[in-house]
Amino acid sequence: MKPKILIIGACGQIGSELTFKLREMYGSSNVIASDISYSNLGVVNTGIFEVVDARSYSSIKICVDKYQIDTIYLMAAMLSATGEKYPMKAWDLNMESLFHVLNLAKSNVIKKVFWPSSIAVFGPTTPVESTPQYTIMEPSTVYGITKQVGERWCEYYFNKYGVDVRSLRYPGIISWKTMPGGGTTDYAVEIYHKAVTDGAYECFLSENTKLPMMYMNDAIKATVDIMEAPAEAIKVRSSYNLAAMSFTPKEVAQTIQEIYPDFKMSYSPDFRQAIADSWPRSIDDTKARADWGWHHEFELQDITREMLFQLDKKYHSPLKKSN
Ligand code: SER
Repeated sequence: MKPKILIIGACGQIGSELTFKLREMYGSSNVIASDISYSNLGVVNTGIFEVVDARSYSSIKICVDKYQIDTIYLMAAMLSATGEKYPMKAWDLNMESLFHVLNLAKSNVIKKVFWPSSIAVFGPTTPVESTPQYTIMEPSTVYGITKQVGERWCEYYFNKYGVDVRSLRYPGIISWKTMPGGGTTDYAVEIYHKAVTDGAYECFLSENTKLPMMYMNDAIKATVDIMEAPAEAIKVRSSYNLAAMSFTPKEVAQTIQEIYPDFKMSYSPDFRQAIADSWPRSIDDTKARADWGWHHEFELQDITREMLFQLDKKYHSPLKKSN
């Protein structure tokens, strides 16, 4: 039987592409997209859409009852950089929404939950290279604290109440359809937009700041795969390490220069540098690969080629292109 899905935070960077993918897989009538406002017309106008406030239990419950939802993807969150500006708001949104969804699942209304975690669960005392699944986790950002605490609660609800919750520690996600918002890894998306529109980019991280990254298609594949896997295969009920590649701003710039030789890169690190410096440089995701067969497909050069191609189409008219 097909799942009846609610996506909370469907207008965001990952939520939007997840919505398109799940509609394709299960049919539009089985996938309800929702967000706090109509902020992504590509999502709103192409299937069922409801306004849902992730901080409100009743707002989520009304939608769950209306459509007899049995599966929730909770994609709403305040990310690392914005979270440092509004710590209490980040705490409230990220934690309240998770509790609402876990409690719906505990009372058996919801059968399966996806909740994203992040590399932000790690901190300055974590081993920085090939960070293991199980290691020291002392996050220094509010976002990281909410994700780490959230992971503990997911595992607790699984052990104590049998809630089928599944989670991935996403690295920075690169995509061209919807902009990310408020993250520390966002430079790796902005750089491609600026390369196409301005031919130059001033990066808010320093040139050798290496961070784990992934192309959106791989992130969506991982999300779908972990949710489709048999419950017995999911051995980690906090959250799985998930990796594809790691690179620095300088290395992305070099791949762009292979296609746009005049592209100019400059660096002006801001408060986000300290956040990036507290995170791992690379991730060991052996457990995800062994337990449910995760593997990635896109490498940096593939991403650069695809991002520049898609964004060039998006920004430049066909008339201009053919000249
Ligand atoms: N992309 C996120 C951020 O930068 C990390 O999960 O906040």
